[in-house]
Amino acid sequence: MKRFENKTAIITGGGSGIGLACALRMASEGANIVIADIQEKESLAAVAKIRENGGKAIYVHCNVGIADDCKNAVQAAITEFKTLDLAINNAGIGGESNTLNDYSIEGWHKVMDVNLNSVFYCMKYEITEMHKHGGGSIVNISSILGHVGFANSSAYVTTKHALLGMTKNAAIENAMQNIRVNAICPGFIETPLLTGAGISQGNDMYNYIASLHSMKRLGKAEEVAAAVLWLLSDEASFVTGTDLLVDGGYVSV
Ligand SMILES: NC(=O)c1ccc[n+]([C@@H]2O[C@H](COP(=O)([O-])OP(=O)(O)OC[C@H]3O[C@@H](n4cnc5c(N)ncnc54)[C@H](O)[C@@H]3O)[C@@H](O)[C@H]2O)c1
Repeated sequence: MKRFENKTAIITGGGSGIGLACALRMASEGANIVIADIQEKESLAAVAKIRENGGKAIYVHCNVGIADDCKNAVQAAITEFKTLDLAINNAGIGGESNTLNDYSIEGWHKVMDVNLNSVFYCMKYEITEMHKHGGGSIVNISSILGHVGFANSSAYVTTKHALLGMTKNAAIENAMQNIRVNAICPGFIETPLLTGAGISQGNDMYNYIASLHSMKRLGKAEEVAAAVLWLLSDEASFVTGTDLLVDGGYVSV
């Protein structure tokens, strides 16, 4: 029996990076996958790959910064697969790189919408469905920057700290309804998010970022996915409201 047989999982931002690694691994462990993302080409490629390997997956266009899009994505999961059992609220952006006093108002609100309000919208609709079908398990993707600051990233750091509070509250409110809610805090992970910010293997910024981790390297999306899957699974049956660092010792220094 595979760990996620007969379960349906929604993964926001499942078309790339950490979300994609989670989608592929969850599908290989039996889950029906709903990829909710704004990148259509990448997401459809992920759906095709899952189907080629014998899994079930659909893509829903969803801008997580818009409440109705999140509602529609959850509804699409129910329409296609009947229940929603698992959710990975993962979509996120790095946002503008600027000191707090120079940060644009527009840039601030964009990061709040995509990284923080989105998780409220998603959990609101996910939990409502999970209540109807006997429970579920949710993982929110925060960051090491939910634990410590990072210069020129005040909006991002704020959202990732706030996600940990939202995770705890959702966990305590739903603990008696068989819904576990946890967060993962990755260190710097090699994904398109970082290459988009100019951090590529071998360049000075990459080497500097690597040096900040005790293991002196960046992480892989698959290393984060392994921890996400454990938290989602029944193996973590007494774990709720926690956040798990997957950070190569970044925060321990
Ligand atoms: N890569 C890292 O170093 C790192 C570290 C800690 C935390 N994280 C977090 O992990 C999550 C995934 O990041 P990643 O590195 O895999 O990035 P990525 O850029 O590879 O993937 C992010 C995905 O989110 C989607 N997305 C962006 N905005 C969206 C929106 N408005 N609506 C729906 N989908 C949207 C993108 O299309 C993309 O598919 C993010 O929340 C990020 O903050 C990343």
